[in-house]
Order: sequence, then C-alpha cells, then structure tokens
Amino acid sequence: MDRAGRAPPVHAARGLYVLTGQAPEVLLHVGSPARGARWQELLPTLVSGLIVRQWPDVGDPAAIRYVAAWAPPAGLLASLPHLEVVFSVGAGVDHLDLSDVPAHVPVVRMIEPGLVRGMEEYAVFAVLALHRGMLGHIAQQRQGAWGDADPVTATPARRIGIFGLGAIGGAVAARLASFDFAVAGWSRSPRSIDGVETFAGDATLAAFLARTDILVNVLPLTDATRGIIGAATLARLPRGAGLVNIGRGGHVDEAALLLALDSGHVGGAILDVTSREPLPAGHPFWQHPRVLLTPHIAGTTDVSGGAAAIAEQILRHRRGDALTGVVDRQAGY
Ligand code: GLV
Repeated sequence: MDRAGRAPPVHAARGLYVLTGQAPEVLLHVGSPARGARWQELLPTLVSGLIVRQWPDVGDPAAIRYVAAWAPPAGLLASLPHLEVVFSVGAGVDHLDLSDVPAHVPVVRMIEPGLVRGMEEYAVFAVLALHRGMLGHIAQQRQGAWGDADPVTATPARRIGIFGLGAIGGAVAARLASFDFAVAGWSRSPRSIDGVETFAGDATLAAFLARTDILVNVLPLTDATRGIIGAATLARLPRGAGLVNIGRGGHVDEAALLLALDSGHVGGAILDVTSREPLPAGHPFWQHPRVLLTPHIAGTTDVSGGAAAIAEQILRHRRGDALTGVVDRQAGY
C-alpha cells in the first residue's frame, strides 16, 4: 500500500518501487519537449523518487500523481485515477479548462522568481517608454524626422495605475514605485503595498482610472475581467493616457482601443498580448504608429525556477502542508 492506502500501481518504474518499498510518484509534463527533458533531469534531484514523463508517453495512467501543463488535451486529466495536483506551467490558468479538472484536484499557478522578474522588467520598460514618449520618437525616426525634445514629466508627477495586485501585480507596483512614479493599484479585494496607493472593488474603479496616466494591466483573465478594458474604462482615463497590456488579450476590447488611439484619447499602447496571437495579417495594430506589439514575451517561466517551484509544492503536498497559489475555482484564478 502507498501513503494513501492504495495498492501499488504496476508501471515501468517497478524497479525503484522494489528498491524503496514506496510506489514512485509520476509527474506528467504536457508542453515543450525541451522543458520536459530538463525537468526529467532536474525534478528527480529535488524530489526523491519522482519520475517525470513527457506527454504523450503517459505510461501507466494510474501511476500519475501530478500533471504540469499549459493546456492539457481535453479528457486527459479526468482519465488519471490517482491524479493529486495539476500545476499550470504559467502564471495564468485561463488556458486550462478548469471544468476538465476533477473537483478534488487542486490547480496551482506558477509563481517563480524568473517569471515575476520578467513581468517587472517588461512593465518597467513599457512604462518608461510611454513616460518618455518613445513611440512618438520611433515614428519620427521612421519618417526621417529628428523630432522635438518634449518637456519631461517628473516621475512623481506621472501616475501609474496597476490593474491587478496579485503576486505579479504587487511586484510590478513595488518595482515601479522604486522609480518614484506615483503608483496606485486596483484589485477586487483590499491589498496593502508600501509606497503604493491601493483601490479595491468596483466602487473605486472610476476614481482609480481617473488618476491613471499609464494603465498597466496584470489582471487574471476570468469571466469577471474579460473585456474590462473597453470603451467605458478607456473613457475614464485622462486624455492622452497610455496602456500597457501584460495580462491577456481578452481583457481589451480592441475595436474600442483602436477608436481611442485614433481619437487621441489614448496616447499609446504597448501590447504584449492580443485577442489572437499572433494577430491576423492586416490587423490595424500591426502598423499603428502609436502601438508597439511584442509576441507574448513579458514573463516566461524559467526552467530551473519552475522546477524548484513545482518541487517545493510537491514536498509540501507530501508533508501534508497547504499548497500555495491554489486556484479558486469560483473566481477562476
Ligand atoms: C504567461 O502568460 C503566463 O501565464 O505565465
């Protein structure tokens, strides 16, 4: 019998079972084969007895305790009788069909230092670019024009608003505050971050937007946040405001953003995520002089950091300690 009182499964790793007397635990990785190969090397050095398999090499489905995936194929999770935890390989879980995960199995978001640092770095780059008018300077360069030296707004007078104050939004807010920007953040439930003015709940949204010169979206994509950056939200920002989207493309009503850019109400947008990735050829954002597009690169899970984060959670799980970053199925993040 194993810890959970189950009969030992018959599987390929029987040799290890014979040696240790414990049924080996298998983690199935569904995603990039390169990362899977590294995790096959790294994870067993961090979690004794753990065996990593790379989809579609499932082996004995009954031996799989953990799945680490971005978007597992429909039906896979429900077909694993001893599945105990699902790890998202990204910070978001909107790409995972939560209704496909058995109700008793927790889903854990990826929060690891490399990913968070990437998000902070990108937010700093994008906010500084908008703050210093770089989209205008790039457009002038393309036209062979030297351009004008715009007056520089002092950082304490530039109001940055972070949409979403979770693990990533909080880190982004603190990092931007270290530049002396006037940073505020909005979240559904109250948060407190040193040097950051915080707003919570729908009733405060209008006030948050009205004081935001550059809006940085880091919200999770859920039914409650889909399309949240639409005409009404954009209209509440001060004229000429900037938008940085490092959340999800589904947060933005792109037609409304285009109108706001064309009318000058929104001065510039730096978009790392879009409704379709890549955007279709001919989409107006490709050539828009006040839009900078990047291909969903802001924060990616570092292979070693991701392995360490998953290992730590498996060890917690083995000890019977609470997992961290567990998705609330109701809230969807
Ligand atoms: C990337 O977008 C992630 O969710 O980690």
